[in-house]
Amino acid sequence: MFIDQQPTNPLREGLASRAMPDPCTLVIFGATGDLTHRKLVPALYNLAADGVLPPAISVVGFARRDKTDDVFRMELEEAARKFSRQGINDGLWESFASNIHYHRSPFDSLEGYESLAKRLDELDAARGTRGNRLFYLAAAPDQFEVILENLRKSRLNEARPGSWARAIVEKPFGTDLPSACRLNDLVEKAFAESQTYRIDHYLGKETAQNIMVLRFANALFEAMWNSRYIDHVQITASEPLGVEGRAGYYDKSGALRDMVQNHLLQLLCLTAMEPPAGLDADSVRDEKVKVLRSLRPLAGADVFKHVVRAQYGAGAINGKRVAAYRDELNVDPSSVTETYVALEVNVDNWRWAGVPFFIRVGKRLAKGGTEIAVHFKSVPPVLFRATGESIDDNVLVIRIQPDEGISLRMSAKMPGSSLRIEPVKMDFHYGTSFGKATPEAYERLLLDAMSGDATLFARRDEVEEAWRFVDAIHAAWNTQKDDLALYEAGTWGPAEADELMKRHGGAWRRL
Ligand code: BG6
Repeated sequence: MFIDQQPTNPLREGLASRAMPDPCTLVIFGATGDLTHRKLVPALYNLAADGVLPPAISVVGFARRDKTDDVFRMELEEAARKFSRQGINDGLWESFASNIHYHRSPFDSLEGYESLAKRLDELDAARGTRGNRLFYLAAAPDQFEVILENLRKSRLNEARPGSWARAIVEKPFGTDLPSACRLNDLVEKAFAESQTYRIDHYLGKETAQNIMVLRFANALFEAMWNSRYIDHVQITASEPLGVEGRAGYYDKSGALRDMVQNHLLQLLCLTAMEPPAGLDADSVRDEKVKVLRSLRPLAGADVFKHVVRAQYGAGAINGKRVAAYRDELNVDPSSVTETYVALEVNVDNWRWAGVPFFIRVGKRLAKGGTEIAVHFKSVPPVLFRATGESIDDNVLVIRIQPDEGISLRMSAKMPGSSLRIEPVKMDFHYGTSFGKATPEAYERLLLDAMSGDATLFARRDEVEEAWRFVDAIHAAWNTQKDDLALYEAGTWGPAEADELMKRHGGAWRRL
């Protein structure tokens, strides 16, 4: 099973094993920002390097600052050299960059969109991109409204016969349920749901995609994937990084909005959902929404019993002293924003009744890693009792990152004349089994949006249900502040989170 051997199936081909998307023009709003430099352009370059982008493709960066195509390309090249998964080949970069253009305009100038429309027509004629347009909203969220409005007024949202127009919307998708609904309404005025791609980059991570395969392509696991055999599930996303210059955003957001509302609840959905009717976008998303609707709401006093929020104080990461959150640049010195949150969540449905899902996420923790650990119930304590040996429960760990893979802890007899029972691990590593670097999440997601496949994007109702759950926790938090715990940077978080697990009779896993 978890043997590191070279498979012979088409997965070895990575993203190249799929049909090439249509020729198109990708228009990035907020093209001078961090996301474009760190993620989008490196992802596009890697797709080009892997030969999976259609030969006719153009990229147009739309932003306010004044610059020429050449300066824009030079800046992107510098970023790509820094952030690309694969090294940059000069010749390939030249030909890739020759199709990148810069369109300068304020986001609120209709004229800028009208001249964009003309420019896109010219590019269509020159490049054969057939009027297919993918608009990527990567600007600051407070600009989304005006961008959507102007796309509509300039009729850029309307596809011509035989062409398509789609919009990718970056996170954060609202800051609470009312703002998410408002944004959804605005998006809907310009783009139908079938044209809308709400990014949650965790869904593009290779191992997150593997959860469904692990569950539904292996008789062994799915048969035991329920409250009869599973004691609890731990979902962890831990980062040694601090706020990294994003304090302006983060201090208003906090860990619950930044990570739980989207990434962590998505991982929970993939772990808990029923088998979908098919692999199409709506069948999969229907099942995820059902999980979100089954979450037992955490509100009022329950929040203080089942949710721990905390903030990091000064400490050390890899032997280097780091400042307390409140001393970070642009953080309010009296901030009560949580940089860590741990929750005990119940999925009140037939399959999961009585199985808690523990979620924890934090910045400035001891080690970086994201994983889902499924803890199975103990065997009856009868047969080996007389030997005095304790038996560890089976734990199936899905490592989302780093060192993507799956491991299963089981018990085995230690060689020797006495009966000693020790935990051993069956381990599968993507890197060694498939012999190929896994594509970055943004590579997969950009390609999917170009191909019109919305399976790995959040649907309107998913986003809104997730906010409904998170808003109730915030409402309780707003009634008091003194539950905010402190933890030292470089540790595994506050003692209060350990207590939460202890009450269930368990302990958080060390990554
Ligand atoms: C982002 C959050 O969505 O995800 C960041 O805003 C976080 O705060 C990041 O650091 C984590 O993503 P990844 O892919 O590095 O795990």
